[in-house]
Amino acid sequence: MYCEGVKGPERIETPRLVLRKPTKDDASAIFSRYSSDPEITKYLGWPRHQSLEATNAFLDASDREWTQWPAGPYLIESRNDHRLLGSTGLHFKTSTAAVTGYVLARDSWGCGYATEALNAICAVAGDLGVGQVIAHCHEDHAASRRVLEKCGFTRASQAPELLEFPNIGSGRPERCLRYFRSFD
Ligand SMILES: CC(C)(COP(=O)(O)OP(=O)(O)OC[C@H]1O[C@@H](n2cnc3c(N)ncnc32)[C@H](O)[C@@H]1OP(=O)(O)O)[C@@H](O)C(=O)NCCC(=O)NCCS
Repeated sequence: MYCEGVKGPERIETPRLVLRKPTKDDASAIFSRYSSDPEITKYLGWPRHQSLEATNAFLDASDREWTQWPAGPYLIESRNDHRLLGSTGLHFKTSTAAVTGYVLARDSWGCGYATEALNAICAVAGDLGVGQVIAHCHEDHAASRRVLEKCGFTRASQAPELLEFPNIGSGRPERCLRYFRSFD
C-alpha cells in the first residue's frame, strides 16, 4: 500500500549491477555512453541529447522528480568496475502509477542487464505501493518487448497506439505497444 512520505532507496544492488540516483557529476558519462548516440536512442521517448546542456537539463529534472516523488531516474553501473552502463527508473504519474523505461550503452547489450535492472525497479515499485508500472515500446523493438515479457509485464491491448518517437525521424506517429505490471 502507498505510504505518504516514504522514499525509495537511492542505491540498489543486484547480483551484477548498482542502480543509483544520478548526480550532477554524471553528465559527461551519460552523454558519452548513451544519451547522444543515435542508434541507442532510436526507440526512446526523449530526444537524443545534442549537447551537455540537454544532459544537465535531464539531471535537473531528475532532482525535481526525486524531491517531488518517492523515486525517479536511476543510473545503472557495473558492480565490478563502477562503469556507467545506462539508466532506468520510475517516472511517477500519480502516487500509485509510474512509467518505466531503460537504456544501455551499446557495449552492454545482450548480457541480461536490462532484465536485471527492470526486475530491481519492479521490486522498488512494489515496496513503494505503486499499483501499476507502465512501459511503452515501439512495435518493432523485439528486444525491449522480450525484456518486458521476461519481467512479468502484460500488453495493455492488442491494438498498437500511435505515439511520437522523436529520434526515428519518420515525421509521423509510430506504432507503440503499452505494457503494464500490477502490484496488489
Ligand atoms: C533494449 C535493451 C534495453 C535490451 O537490453 P539487454 O540488456 O540487451 O536486454 P536483456 O539481455 O535483458 O534481454 C533481451 C532479450 O531480448 C532478446 N532479443 C534481443 N534482440 C532480439 C531480437 N532482435 N528479436 C527478438 N529477441 C531479441 C534477447 O535474446 C533477450 O531474450 P532472452 O533472454 O530470452 O534470450 C538495449 O538493447 C538498449 O538499451 N537499447 C537501446 C535503448 C532502448 O531501445 N530502450 C528500450 C526502449 S522501449
